[in-house]
Amino acid sequence: MDFKIIFVNPMTVVINLLLLSTVTDAICILPPELRNTEWIYKYTKPDDNQPITTTLRIQNTVLPQQSSVRFNALGTTMDAWTCISNLTLSDTESVAVFKSDTSYSDGPFGGNRRLYLCMKFTKVTDNLFYFYLLSDVDNTILPNERVFNPPENSIPDDSDPLCSTFCQYTSEPKIRTLQKTGTTDVVPSDAALCTPCESPCEEQVIACPDLAPVNFTTITAETGTNYQDNITYACNTGYELKSGDLIRECLADESWSGSPPVCEIVACPDLAQVNFATITAETGKNYQGTITYACNTGYELKSGDLTRQCQDDKAWSGIPPVCGRIIKPAKCQGRRRRRRRSVHLNTRRL
Ligand SMILES: *[C@@H]1O[C@H](CO)[C@@H](O)[C@H](O)[C@H]1NC(C)=O
Ligand SMILES: *[C@@H]1O[C@H](CO)[C@@H](O)[C@H](O)[C@H]1NC(C)=O
Ligand SMILES: *[C@@H]1O[C@H](CO)[C@@H](O)[C@H](O)[C@H]1NC(C)=O
Repeated sequence: MDFKIIFVNPMTVVINLLLLSTVTDAICILPPELRNTEWIYKYTKPDDNQPITTTLRIQNTVLPQQSSVRFNALGTTMDAWTCISNLTLSDTESVAVFKSDTSYSDGPFGGNRRLYLCMKFTKVTDNLFYFYLLSDVDNTILPNERVFNPPENSIPDDSDPLCSTFCQYTSEPKIRTLQKTGTTDVVPSDAALCTPCESPCEEQVIACPDLAPVNFTTITAETGTNYQDNITYACNTGYELKSGDLIRECLADESWSGSPPVCEIVACPDLAQVNFATITAETGKNYQGTITYACNTGYELKSGDLTRQCQDDKAWSGIPPVCGRIIKPAKCQGRRRRRRRSVHLNTRRL
């Protein structure tokens, strides 16, 4: 009998020491609101579905001994749990892994082993959290709590992704609430419990609302409507930015940066009066407006343009019309030529 114990136990101890010595805890940072506070802890006892209301105090990283998270592992009560790593899923959701002490010595894979608790916390308010245990149930632990009892030689390594081996859950999770003493916040009816812990509904999508169409603009680029996406506007041809922003970015608070661009139609300057001309039609001085002139009676266009249009560069098309007196060419030239001829004749005669 003595031989047997001396022969077998040192082996087990050596193996366990080796296993334990290779595992160094990662850093656990619990949500600050959870720490060093006493919580009213409500849950449904898994083995008889009885509602339980008790208190739970979480220190910096420890559920101290005699905490209300007490599991009976084949006769050994596990109630001291130390947080060994955490994973932040979103502003309000995080996963924390707690390890037990090493007193679990019997049962499957027993022998100074640790059990692990994987909790997914959701913050409702600073005074109210809910969580559930994420590991699959181990029937050797009463009351059928969801703890991870690592199979032999498979103690989760700290570099293991938190949502892998032991932070998995395959059936309906049950919400457990933590409510700060003296507060009255309630868990919303649509409290979301998604499994496994990295399923898409865990991802916090920061989305901005759709933007209303903006007058006189065109969207020239749009990367989407989620966080850090941009919508880029351009004022339409003939319009210019008066206020607001042509680039709007979806911000972390689900709002768009800046304000809607205000694009206004451009206007051309007043035109100087044109001598000997009358304005016969005018549609305004804004973009694409036209002014049409006619030379007064007895006058005709010598140069320039009788119709001018306001362009998108705030300049009028063409150049100002120049109206000059109409000269009757045939009569004048005939007389002059005759005179000149007579002068010539005269000089020749002289
Ligand atoms: C652990 O939690 C802290 C505080 O919430 C956070 O900054 C850190 O990123 C978390 N660690 C991981 C691995 O997500
Ligand atoms: C956009 O134009 C329409 C029609 O001209 C006008 O009724 C509306 O008030 C304008 N919207 C803004 C935000 O200016
Ligand atoms: C949106 O614009 C911001 C600021 O100009 C830039 O930092 C960011 O990368 C842009 N986002 C995308 C998706 O292009």
